[in-house]
Amino acid sequence: MTDIVYLNGDLVAKDSAKISVLDRGFLFADGVYEVIPVYNSTPFRLKQHLSRLNACLMQLDIANPHSAIEWKNIIATLIQRNGGGHLAIYLQVTRGVSKERNHLLDANMTPTVLLMASKLTVAEQNIQSITATLLNDIRWLHCDIKSIALLGNIMLSNKARQSGHDEAILHRDGLVTEGAASNVFMVKHRELFTPPQNQLILGGITRDVIIELAEASGLKVHQQDIHIDQLLSADEVWISSSAREISPIRQIDDKIIGSGIIGPVASVLHSEFQAFKKTLIN
Ligand SMILES: Cc1ncc(COP(=O)(O)O)c(C=O)c1O
Repeated sequence: MTDIVYLNGDLVAKDSAKISVLDRGFLFADGVYEVIPVYNSTPFRLKQHLSRLNACLMQLDIANPHSAIEWKNIIATLIQRNGGGHLAIYLQVTRGVSKERNHLLDANMTPTVLLMASKLTVAEQNIQSITATLLNDIRWLHCDIKSIALLGNIMLSNKARQSGHDEAILHRDGLVTEGAASNVFMVKHRELFTPPQNQLILGGITRDVIIELAEASGLKVHQQDIHIDQLLSADEVWISSSAREISPIRQIDDKIIGSGIIGPVASVLHSEFQAFKKTLIN
């Protein structure tokens, strides 16, 4: 039962929600989004998701249509109206509806706000390993903005799927950036490595949680460039995202990673992640 969406102040059935053909999100992908995991009806790291949303809106010069407390209330209502439990809240803000299709902006546009809920399946699963393929990062140079313009990511995800893999791990000139819909971590000699947070990757909320948990448990964390050769010879590799939490990679293309089973560091951090979630939602 996740049929109720929030659109510009109204709670309506998904099937009857309508936006204008002149919405700049529809015409130009002129907008940003968030995916907020909800465990036992409680949003996880909401403050951080709202702060990233605000930062991305600022980068696009779109006025944030709601205060933090207003967002919280909208999200709480949506969770309740969609039956609660473990959900993923999709939140999208576009620049709004223009008078005509024109690259240039109209003054004083009212942003379009859409929120939807779907089941968060990962919350009920045990840790599972997946496979990945290495692909050239063909995207633009502002991957730090959580833009709804996801054509590059879509092409890469589907290319991975077509070659039988669960995720694409992307690189620019041999340096790993991130997954098509995730951040990337590797372990070598019990130290953790992840590419630095810059304009070439999205600063993942899950990435931050993993870094915090790893540092708290005494692991050395390096946020630095990773060459694909280092990735392929790592002891462990995993991806992280709100939708997938921590997903260990057992194989990248033909190369088995480590011993091909879920590694000890991924296992421990996954358990810590589950425990951390529970402390916040109970
Ligand atoms: C390209 C990309 N990088 C990283 C992430 C991980 O971000 P988060 O942990 O905030 O979900 C995502 C999530 O969808 C993503 O699409």
